[in-house]
Amino acid sequence: MKINRESSLSGKKVVLLGGTSGFGLETAMAAADEGASVIVVSSSRQKVDSALTVLPEGSQGFIADLGDEKQVEQLFKKTGEFDHLVFTAGDELKFSNLSELDIDEAKESVNLRFWGAIMAVKHGAPKIRKGGSVTLTTGALGRRPRKGTLVVAGMASAIEGLTRALAIELAPIRVNAVCAGTVKTGLLKGMPESEREAFFSRVGNKLLTGRVGNTKELAEAYLYLMRGSFSTGQIVVVDGGSLLV
Ligand SMILES: NC(=O)c1ccc[n+]([C@@H]2O[C@H](COP(=O)([O-])OP(=O)(O)OC[C@H]3O[C@@H](n4cnc5c(N)ncnc54)[C@H](OP(=O)(O)O)[C@@H]3O)[C@@H](O)[C@H]2O)c1
Repeated sequence: MKINRESSLSGKKVVLLGGTSGFGLETAMAAADEGASVIVVSSSRQKVDSALTVLPEGSQGFIADLGDEKQVEQLFKKTGEFDHLVFTAGDELKFSNLSELDIDEAKESVNLRFWGAIMAVKHGAPKIRKGGSVTLTTGALGRRPRKGTLVVAGMASAIEGLTRALAIELAPIRVNAVCAGTVKTGLLKGMPESEREAFFSRVGNKLLTGRVGNTKELAEAYLYLMRGSFSTGQIVVVDGGSLLV
């Protein structure tokens, strides 16, 4: 079966917030491979510059702290109009049991993923062209929490609800989210490498797939949701079967 040209990303413009590493960068590379022009955004110049070295000539990169509304507003003055918005920005995750939870720190920890996504859509959606979409990011802990994950799980579930509400609010712009299980990226860079590899192998062994995911597998889901002109308000779970074990 041939890919429907109208739903391919060729000639489209994609803005990827958090597009300088992990899911975002892989999705940027895959979209560019399909003929899209891409803009990647994150908070550090070094990561933006490094991402641009692996993206095709003509790709753009901007620096913005996406947890700060003023910077988000300024950013969309620079992007111009575009077709698809992908939000994969995420900072270090904080895990804690309820009894030890620092409430102020917990409030701060939802700022980028939850409020950042809302701010991005608030200021970005007016620039989205007809037929365009928003794809947010959430995690499987929202559906299958573990001990010590309450804030992360609550935030992940909130992003699922937000996705459905935004799909209604912004229609006909389509709004969906990718819900990821454990995937090898730089997210756990704070952990020593040997500990990190042991963690991935311990988690992977318990999954139905027998291994954790890779960024290419995640990028496929973002691409599908950008192209899939009849999907909106949906959460695509890419988790190696973690919800079933
Ligand atoms: N990897 C997993 O196993 C997994 C599982 C479930 C859900 N998720 C979620 O999926 C999302 C993407 O994960 P990933 O693994 O691709 O992470 P990643 O490789 O660490 O990428 C995160 C991106 O967010 C950017 N970022 C961080 N703070 C920012 C800020 N204040 N403003 C703007 N950009 C910021 C980072 O660049 P800078 O440092 O330059 O800002 C980077 O480009 C995260 O929300 C993560 O929690 C990941």
